[in-house]
Amino acid sequence: VIDIRKLYGETGAFTYDPGFTSTASCESKITYIDGDEGVLLHRGYPIGQLAEQSSFMEVAYLLLRGELPSKTELDSFIHTITRHTMVHEQLAMFYRGFRRDAHPMAIMCGVVGALSAFYHDSTDIDDPVQRMIASHRLIAKMPTIAAMAYKYSVGQPFLYPDNSLSYTGNFLRMTFGVPAEEYVVDPVVEKAMDRIFILHADHEQNASTSTVRLASSSGANPFACIAAGIACLWGPAHGGANEAALNMLREIGTPDRIPEYVARAKDKDDPFRLMGFGHRVYKNYDPRATVMQKTAAEVLEKLGVKDPVFDVARELEHMALNDPYFIDKKLYPNVDFYSGIILSAIGFPTTMFTVLFALARTVGWVAQWNEMIEDPAQKIGRPRQLYTGHTQRDYVPVDKR
Ligand code: ACO
Repeated sequence: VIDIRKLYGETGAFTYDPGFTSTASCESKITYIDGDEGVLLHRGYPIGQLAEQSSFMEVAYLLLRGELPSKTELDSFIHTITRHTMVHEQLAMFYRGFRRDAHPMAIMCGVVGALSAFYHDSTDIDDPVQRMIASHRLIAKMPTIAAMAYKYSVGQPFLYPDNSLSYTGNFLRMTFGVPAEEYVVDPVVEKAMDRIFILHADHEQNASTSTVRLASSSGANPFACIAAGIACLWGPAHGGANEAALNMLREIGTPDRIPEYVARAKDKDDPFRLMGFGHRVYKNYDPRATVMQKTAAEVLEKLGVKDPVFDVARELEHMALNDPYFIDKKLYPNVDFYSGIILSAIGFPTTMFTVLFALARTVGWVAQWNEMIEDPAQKIGRPRQLYTGHTQRDYVPVDKR
């Protein structure tokens, strides 16, 4: 016999909200989204302005500390991050335990989680100084860890960070450089990559950020919490969508096949969806997709890449934006629709796309993590459920069943 009042609280009422579509889990001062108007602000600054005029390091400072840095503050922040780019030598050995063909996101989940075994001195979450050291370590080491995951998968030696380069330039060199040759960072590629990092830096209470917050609500250490965020980001409905979007565009191949795929996306009996289209919050053009489309054109031109997939993407966008199904459901290209084209032109395999997303989103994760710990209203995350199983019944021994 179940006492309904005990199950559902004395008032007998609580919200049943699968996917948390209308439940706020926290207060936040970091990121604002107006999905109907296609607005995204970080600490009040529009994403378009940040992507055009700022740098990823400056945005990282902004998200973490709340204000844009002065020149001195920015230099000091970059210096601090640069000091933390190396990983423990034993962490490099950790990679050798993975199969060569492991998905780099699988490696990321493991290696980032393992950071808690290497940096015990920054796991006291009640100490603001240790929290900031852990935050800096995560932001600084993520490019090194991501580049090592790539190098491991292609069988090349790891490259140590070159701290004379920018955050993004250093990452590009660790990924594409080889020990025997000098690697010259292409400024257009560096700018595009930095912009992609800015566009992915934070997006308020998305699934992976909520996962980081939920994991940390139990007091878990920051490295473990960020590893949980990485695991969540991996899914194709979230961070895995850029990989899925490019695969879909390649499968479509030529503009004449687009109607077939649009028809499939509209067919209720076909589970197929246009990847890189639609968003839980944006019911208007994703402002990040606008910057991404422009950046794709710049990078393809600079690198002299003639990728037919870009034509397919633009034509598909055009057709969908004029189709009543997509208009009625307010489905627009999201940040993932064009990002894969840029990353592919730069030379990243599709399996690395979500890794790059994780690298950039680490900044948002640690900013949200710090905000949460400083918020006195926060308590352990513990959603309720609507129980629909059996009422109480007696156990029957196996020989009587
Ligand atoms: N193609 C075709 N139809 C779609 C698409 C799509 N990409 N997205 C949503 N729809 C339809 C659904 O079938 C549904 O139709 P119905 O009302 O007739 O049942 C309606 O639009 C609403 O879809 P939901 O899944 O309920 O919307 P939700 O807000 O839960 O999902 C999501 C958002 C997961 C992003 C969805 O649009 C999707 O699956 N898109 C493709 C994957 C993708 O690009 N993900 C990246 C998101 S951005 C990011 O994570 C950085």
